[in-house]
Amino acid sequence: MMEKIKEAADHIKSIYGGQPGVGIVLGSGLGSFTNEINIEKEIPYADIPHFPISTVAGHSGKLIFGELSGKKIVAMAGRFHYYEGYTAQQIVFPIRVMKFLGIQTLLLSNAAGGVNTSLKVGDLMIITDHISQLAPNPLIGKNYPELGPRFPDMSEPYKKDLINKVKAIAAQKGIKVKEGIYVVVTGPTFETLAEYKMILAMGGDAVGMSTVPEAITAVHMGLPVFAMSVITDVGIREDHTAVTHEEVLQAAKAAEPNFAALFIELVAQL
Ligand code: HPA
Repeated sequence: MMEKIKEAADHIKSIYGGQPGVGIVLGSGLGSFTNEINIEKEIPYADIPHFPISTVAGHSGKLIFGELSGKKIVAMAGRFHYYEGYTAQQIVFPIRVMKFLGIQTLLLSNAAGGVNTSLKVGDLMIITDHISQLAPNPLIGKNYPELGPRFPDMSEPYKKDLINKVKAIAAQKGIKVKEGIYVVVTGPTFETLAEYKMILAMGGDAVGMSTVPEAITAVHMGLPVFAMSVITDVGIREDHTAVTHEEVLQAAKAAEPNFAALFIELVAQL
């Protein structure tokens, strides 16, 4: 695997000579954030050796290199999910490659279902912690000491200083942000009512199908992480109506301007 990571990173370096300091993963419905980037180079995943290829509507599947807030960044437009049939190790491959490209901070985003009743559709939620017991861990299997330790500490997966920075930016811009615990599930089914209630009972505030494997991998490599959810639906509904992917994409789109304002200023302050 080390070889594959290096081959992918070397291939990218042969195409793009810049040095990104920040990696950004864009969640469902947040792809228009790429309009904020002064794009220098786009590389489709299909052109990168050993990269999986994204299959979900709303995830376009390329690495975007360029400038944001005057900083060199790399953004993943489209990420990989366990429900697509990839292994947990394949899902996190791009995160490892971005580390080998030299990023020093990883910013993650996602669309998530709210389970804490204080969360409403369109809310932005800073992920303060996660519960990863309902989905496979990407570090299962051979450990590569060049990447990190066999038993990584997870006492602060999401860096407090980054969380505090975003809270200060939000306060200064008058953008409301909430904080909460994200529970990752495999999907692709949205949860049953009983499952949403279980997730709430186990201490979760929101639930989704991504982000946590990527955060775990980054922490394993000593890469600081910040993560934010856009609440696109609420799980425990009085009317028991269905959750749809279209609804999720729509709600994420609506919340995108505030999300973008926070990420742009956070990158400026890194
Ligand atoms: N559950 C799981 N994943 C999700 C949801 C949800 O309700 N909304 C967006 N992603």
